[in-house]
Amino acid sequence: MSKIVGISAYFHDSSACLIVDGKVVAAIQEERLSRVKHDASFPQKSIVSCLEMASLTIADIDEVIFFEKPFTKFDRILDTFLTVAPRGFLPFRKAILGWFKEKMWVEDVFRKHFSYKGTFSYCQHHLSHAALACVASGFESAAYIVIDGVGERACTSYGAYENGKFSPIAEQQFPHSLGLLYSAFTAYCGFRVNSGEYKLMGLAPYGKPVYKQLILDSLVSFSDEGVVKLNLRYFGFLDDLRMINRRFEKLFGRPARKENQQVDDFHKDIAASIQSVLEDGLVILLNYVQRETGSTRLVYGGGVALNCVANTQLIARTGFEQLFIHSASGDSGCAMGAALWASIQHNEIQSNDSFSLNPEFLGPDYINEAIKEALHEKGITVFHELEWETLTQTVADELAQDKVVAWFQGKMEFGPRALGNRSILANATHPERKAILNQKIKKREGFRPFAPVVLSEYFADYFEDQGNDYSRMLYVTQGTEKAKEIPACIHNDGSARVQRLEPGFNDQLRSLLVKYYDLTGIPVLINTSFNERGEPMVCSPKDAIRCFLNTEIDVLVMGNFLVYKSEITDVVHKTIVYEPD
Ligand SMILES: [Fe+2]
Repeated sequence: MSKIVGISAYFHDSSACLIVDGKVVAAIQEERLSRVKHDASFPQKSIVSCLEMASLTIADIDEVIFFEKPFTKFDRILDTFLTVAPRGFLPFRKAILGWFKEKMWVEDVFRKHFSYKGTFSYCQHHLSHAALACVASGFESAAYIVIDGVGERACTSYGAYENGKFSPIAEQQFPHSLGLLYSAFTAYCGFRVNSGEYKLMGLAPYGKPVYKQLILDSLVSFSDEGVVKLNLRYFGFLDDLRMINRRFEKLFGRPARKENQQVDDFHKDIAASIQSVLEDGLVILLNYVQRETGSTRLVYGGGVALNCVANTQLIARTGFEQLFIHSASGDSGCAMGAALWASIQHNEIQSNDSFSLNPEFLGPDYINEAIKEALHEKGITVFHELEWETLTQTVADELAQDKVVAWFQGKMEFGPRALGNRSILANATHPERKAILNQKIKKREGFRPFAPVVLSEYFADYFEDQGNDYSRMLYVTQGTEKAKEIPACIHNDGSARVQRLEPGFNDQLRSLLVKYYDLTGIPVLINTSFNERGEPMVCSPKDAIRCFLNTEIDVLVMGNFLVYKSEITDVVHKTIVYEPD
């Protein structure tokens, strides 16, 4: 029986996870603690936090496992340079500096930081993704596929999974990467690579795929044997510090959008075009994997699996009948995947009970005393401490009266999506609510969509069940006729990214939503992550208070405490500027 720490670091979204005797007990992304969005640094704070959550010290840990193999990855970078040399010196030099400074010596860094003397091991990057997806799926057997920008060398890999055994079948290596293709368009549209892909996906429904054929004719091809081929003449990631080059810009007739430039119809059409290419490419690839493996169940991991819009088509358009994708399928989830991989090697994953009932809530929790202390420390002396029944009734009343509520309860979510413990909640019935929330609270682009949370028993009234429940609670689906009642969380193409709230999953949020339904007859609220633009999701009560004071959120609820903005006008509203995400 062992205690294993998994870590992911040095690329983006560093994180740590702790598994004790085959059970995941804690996991957190470094950004939540360092407050640096997508923090890629050594996840020291996350490791300490995981140990604290389990009341362990580093001396209790039997094994630490890193989510990829640095020397294999370095080999690939060296090979790439030698292929294009003497071009490519700049990115090579940049990479080399990073690698020799820290990345290559992660074991030494860890041992030094923590005076650790136990086992230190490495998991292959794509197997870290695959282990998380497969174990969390609960399937006894399935085909698995991992698609991301690039791991050590692999950009796409697939194989068969059966009761803790992985049989890799084939992989496609760098640079022919679906993830890098999508990221190239993310950069072209002026969004940040490795974080702005969400924005590109969110922009796609506003455009028409008029450039799709041009992309297929010039930039990428897909063979029926699942081979993706990029036309490298148009990309900059081999021999430049950019994702794309001049030839790429000339192909579409416009230079890349700068971050501060207006998004216009051209960018919307580009987004729609690459989204459609990605969807078709995935379908070709997955149909091939289905034929090769003969499985009707698919487990899908890697950063590309975060494209929830593409995922909705995978059941309808492929031979797979069941699909599972973990909500942290990007690199942050690799800390958990690597730790699960080590547990599998120790034969400690006996069944599908590695995750507790609420597997996404694995971060820090704060007791009422700590919340009260934070309120005092931030100069907030007017607040209300209420019994749970009164609290939820009061909050439901406020939401019904169109107030925006920040809702902070229990353990923080692991992964990118707020699932009701660090959430901003709002009435979804007003069409203008989306623009107001984007401008005044999230301080971000007006096109960014908001997700609804719905009581599971009313899901079918508002949303179509298209049989694509790939994560058992998160759906991207079309709204029904009744969804006209909740326009603020319906995308302009009629779709929504729904969290279906089952009994037993986040009962605190359920109890609030039930009261809200009793009052209004609407079983749906907007549920968006508790943060503002450029800031990671809030973790501690202090983060929550700062975000509350810095935005136009009306009510803050933390534990049993409730704060009205209107009652604390004496507290200085500080303006905190974060780097854009
Ligand atoms: Fe990855």
